[in-house]
Amino acid sequence: MDEQNIYILAIESSCDDTSAAVLHNDKLLSNIVATQDVHIKYGGVVPELASRAHQQNIVPVIHQAITQANIDKKDVSAIAFTRGPGLMGSLLVGTSFAKSLSMGLGIPLIEVNHMQAHILAHFIDEENFKKPEFPFLALTISGGHTQIVKVTDHFEMEVIGQTIDDAVGEAFDKSAKILGFPYPGGPLIDKYSRTGNSKAFKFTKPKVEGLDFSFSGLKTAVLYFIQKEVKNNPNFIEKNRDDICASIQYTIVEILMDKLKKAVKQTGIKQIAIGGGVSANSGIRKALSDAESKYGWKTYVPKFEYTTDNAAMIGIVGYYKYLKGEFSDLSVSAQARYKI
Ligand code: KG4
Ligand code: ZN
Repeated sequence: MDEQNIYILAIESSCDDTSAAVLHNDKLLSNIVATQDVHIKYGGVVPELASRAHQQNIVPVIHQAITQANIDKKDVSAIAFTRGPGLMGSLLVGTSFAKSLSMGLGIPLIEVNHMQAHILAHFIDEENFKKPEFPFLALTISGGHTQIVKVTDHFEMEVIGQTIDDAVGEAFDKSAKILGFPYPGGPLIDKYSRTGNSKAFKFTKPKVEGLDFSFSGLKTAVLYFIQKEVKNNPNFIEKNRDDICASIQYTIVEILMDKLKKAVKQTGIKQIAIGGGVSANSGIRKALSDAESKYGWKTYVPKFEYTTDNAAMIGIVGYYKYLKGEFSDLSVSAQARYKI
């Protein structure tokens, strides 16, 4: 097939979203995501339930992606799938399905690293969105990841900082849980922060060497603070909700920005691209846009549907790997821990 006429069918199943997408070269034709509500009542993702839900979702999701793309299965040039990192049971569903499809259709199979995909999501061709120029720093922030990656080329990436405990999304969600908000509480903390005073309460920032992050201490600090205040005043949370949220968000954004500033200083790279579900956060967006005028950074935020877990980002990696002829054979296995 002509290099300029590549159709990639991509599958993502690393955590709790089942997703399939079709790309024509670097343009998106469809991106279907089935989110799994089954986890809400448990306040977090239950791995066994996630893999079962993937099994139920995968056929209709792929079918819908192909139908919406308005192509025929026979047009697909290759199948791209998430090999890792992620939950083993969830990854196995996508991996097995991708292998069977590639065998059944007699087309190449392409394994994709989920963390690389979060970064290359910036390269899906979109009107009004500029692609980052190499080299750049990628900050991937979600419920499962917190990483700073130095990106020199599409496939030349080096993790220069990452969390040593909780991910930043967990810091939001666990703090929200302490305040009695439903899961995932990150977006609610963001919402209430808008009308709160970020300096009302002070939470100490962790002291971690180098470019690594730590978020578990913040959750504990929030817990002790709330327990103490509620003892004195049972209505403390209701009375101070917005100020508490704004103060927590302010601390999280400061932690992220401190490390980013350090990374910029260390590498001399002033181009920052963010990804992952937490990049929807208004505090982070504001801090990044302020940094453009304050420090001369150039920042990139992708379209929202490419920030949360989705198959479109798996597809764009598939496209670049297809161009390089980097295919996997059928013996490839899912990997829960899979380095960039
Ligand atoms: O990328 P994502 O959809 O899923 C994975 O974690 O893989 O990210 C979800 C995370 C959750 O922790 C959620 O609370 C957080 O992103 N999140 C936010 C916001 N929107 C989503 N956290 C803070 N502010 C937001 N606006
Ligand atoms: Zn992710």
